[in-house]
Amino acid sequence: MNKTLIALGILIMTGLQAQAIEAPSLSLGKTLFESAVLGSKGKSCASCHPQGKGLGMVGDFNDVELKDIINACLRDAIGAELISTDSQEMNAMLAYVRTFQKAKQ
Ligand code: HEC
Repeated sequence: MNKTLIALGILIMTGLQAQAIEAPSLSLGKTLFESAVLGSKGKSCASCHPQGKGLGMVGDFNDVELKDIINACLRDAIGAELISTDSQEMNAMLAYVRTFQKAKQ
């Protein structure tokens, strides 16, 4: 195998890997959003936001603001610990919450 082929192979593998990381993050977000065991109150995000209820305006917030809101709901509404804003879990929840965002008029 020549060097170009090897380099190409590595590029393709890295691309596939990046995809593999991206796809589950949305499903992880959904799992967390619907989990009633994150906090002490026996509630999930979906208890108060079924099918994204009340989340249509999340497009008004940037990622930093939205992560703070998610943490506020985690702490106050669910009785959970805050999660680190650069954790995989937070990014997964952010990605999932963004799926409820309505297109701007
Ligand atoms: C006990 C009910 C309750 C639970 C559980 C809850 N929330 Fe909320 N959430 C609210 C209320 C009330 C608001 C503020 C009023 C509104 O905009 O609907 C809000 C607002 C938000 C917003 C801002 C929406 C906007 O456009 O202003 C986001 C994002 C959000 N919640 C995400 C979550 C996530 C993620 C979870 C799970 C960790 C969660 N919420 C759990 C009640 C809840």
